[in-house]
Amino acid sequence: MPDTKMISLTIEGRAVTVPEGTSILEAAKTVGILIPHYCYHPALPVAGVCRMCLVDVEKAPKLAPACATAVADGQVISTRTEKALEARKGVLEMLLINHPLDCPICDQSGECELQDYTYQEGRQDSRYREPKRFNPVEDFGGDVVYVPNRCILCTRCVRFMDDVAHDPVLSVSERGDRAVIGKFDGADLTHEWASNVVDLCPVGALLSKDFLNKARAWELDRSASICPNCTQGCNAIIETRDNQVVRMRPRANPDVNAYFMCDTGRLDYRWINRTDRLEQPMMHVNGALAAVDWEPALAAAAAALRGKRAVVLASPMLSNESLFLLSRLGGRGVFRVAQGPEAPLEGVPDLALRADRAANVRGAEEMGFSRTAALSGVGAGDVVVIADDDLEGLDTAALGGATLIVMGTTLPEGIAGRVAVALPTTNFSEEEGTFTNLRGRVQRFMQARAAPGLARPMWYALTDLLALLGQPSAYFIASEVFDALAAAKPSYAGMAYDTLGLRGSPLPAAQAAGRSA
Ligand code: SF4
Ligand code: SF4
Ligand code: FES
Repeated sequence: MPDTKMISLTIEGRAVTVPEGTSILEAAKTVGILIPHYCYHPALPVAGVCRMCLVDVEKAPKLAPACATAVADGQVISTRTEKALEARKGVLEMLLINHPLDCPICDQSGECELQDYTYQEGRQDSRYREPKRFNPVEDFGGDVVYVPNRCILCTRCVRFMDDVAHDPVLSVSERGDRAVIGKFDGADLTHEWASNVVDLCPVGALLSKDFLNKARAWELDRSASICPNCTQGCNAIIETRDNQVVRMRPRANPDVNAYFMCDTGRLDYRWINRTDRLEQPMMHVNGALAAVDWEPALAAAAAALRGKRAVVLASPMLSNESLFLLSRLGGRGVFRVAQGPEAPLEGVPDLALRADRAANVRGAEEMGFSRTAALSGVGAGDVVVIADDDLEGLDTAALGGATLIVMGTTLPEGIAGRVAVALPTTNFSEEEGTFTNLRGRVQRFMQARAAPGLARPMWYALTDLLALLGQPSAYFIASEVFDALAAAKPSYAGMAYDTLGLRGSPLPAAQAAGRSA
C-alpha cells in the first residue's frame, strides 16, 4: 500500500502505526490490546450501538467509541482510566438489568463475551430489584433458536443477514426495554449461510439447535482443520468431546472464507464419527475374509499388485499426501464426486458452497486422477484399488473379475466376498495432511481425534506398500510426504509443509494468476 498515509499514535503507552482510517479498536489489536466490544465485528458495517468500547482520548472532552472513531496522528489513548472503566461498568450494568442468570444452563457459557467482560470489569453485585422482562424462546428456522431474554440488541445478526447474506429477514422489533430481534412475517433463517449468526452473537441469545445442550465449552478439545464438504476449503475448527466430533465452526481466513461457514458444511459432520469402521487389516484366508496383522495384509496386497495393471478408484476426500502415493502405484487413477447446488454468500467475493461436494477435487486432479461417473475398462486380470470410495451408486458388475484391494475407512457394501485384501485407514479428522481447494490454495488440517482400532493414515500404509513393490519410500510423518510431493509434482514446486502455516498458500501457478483464494 505505497500511497496509504500512515498514522502514529499511542495506545496504553504503546506506540502504534496504522493506515489512515483504521479504527482505534483495530489499531489497539495490532499491539495486543483487546478493547471490550459487542456490536463491532470486523466483517460487519460499524453500528456503534452498544457503547461497550468507550475509551479515553487525551484532550477530548468525552469518551470515544473505539469501534467508530478513526485514529488521528499523535493521539494518546487510554483504555483503562477511571472514567472509561466507570462508563463501561455502567454499560454492563444496564445490559444485565434484563439479562437472566442463565449461565449454568446456557450453551454460550464459557465462550460468552457478557460473562467475560462482567467478570473482567463489571460490578460485583446487582442494584436491580424489579422483576426482569420475560419473552419466550423462539424457533428462528434453520438451525437457529432465539432466546430473547439473553439478547443484548447488538444487531450483529441483523447486519449479517442484511449486509453479508443479502437476505434481510431480521430486524429490531419494538422499542426501549421491550425491544427484541424479530423475523419478518413468513421469513426465517433457512438461508444456506444463516447459522453464522450463532457464531456472531456475542451472548447466548442465538443458539444452534444441533449443538443445544451437547457440551459445555470447557469440555471441548479444538483442532484447526478444513471443512471437507466442498471444494471451497473453508477453514474450520473441529470440536470434539470424548473423541466424538460435536461441532464444526469457522476459522477466519481472509483468502478463503472470511469468518464464515455454510450450514451444509457446518452440520454435515456425523459421518466423521461413524462407528461401522474397518478397524483391522483383512485378507482372504481359506476362502473367507479374516482379520490379520498389517504385515501379511500388506504382503498380500503387494503380491496382488506386482506385475498387474492397477486401476485406482480414489475418494476426492483424501489428502494430497495419500493421493500422491496412490498415484505412484501406477496404472489409471479415477475419482467420483457427489454433486449439489451451489450457494454463494453474496457479501463475500468468491465464497460459495460449491457443487463438487468434496474437499480435494483439485488435489486429485493435480495428482493425475480424472473425474468419472462410472468405472469402465476394467479387465479380469486387473487389480482395482478402492481407496475410500464407498461404491454407492456404482455398478459393481463393472469391477468384473478384477482383484479387489480396499484401502479405506469402511468396507463397501456387497463386495466383501470378492475383496482380496482390506487395509483400514483413518479419515481426515484422525490424521494430519493437506487439501488443495478449487482456487489452488494448499491448506493444512490437524489431527482432531484418535484413530479407531489399527487404522493408519493411508499415506503411511502406502509407504510400506510401495517399499514392498520396490519403490524406495520411507516417510514417517505427513510433512515428509508433502515435501516429496512438492519435489515430484511441478505444480507444487517450491512449496514446503512447514511454511504453509494455518492459512495455507496458493500453488505457484495460482499465485502467478492472481487467484489465491
Ligand atoms: S440475538 Fe445476539 S447477535 Fe442478535 S442482537 Fe441479540 S445479542 Fe446481538
Ligand atoms: S462452503 Fe464448502 S468448504 Fe465452506 S463450509 Fe460450506 S461445505 Fe464447507
Ligand atoms: S463495539 Fe463500539 S459501540 Fe459497540
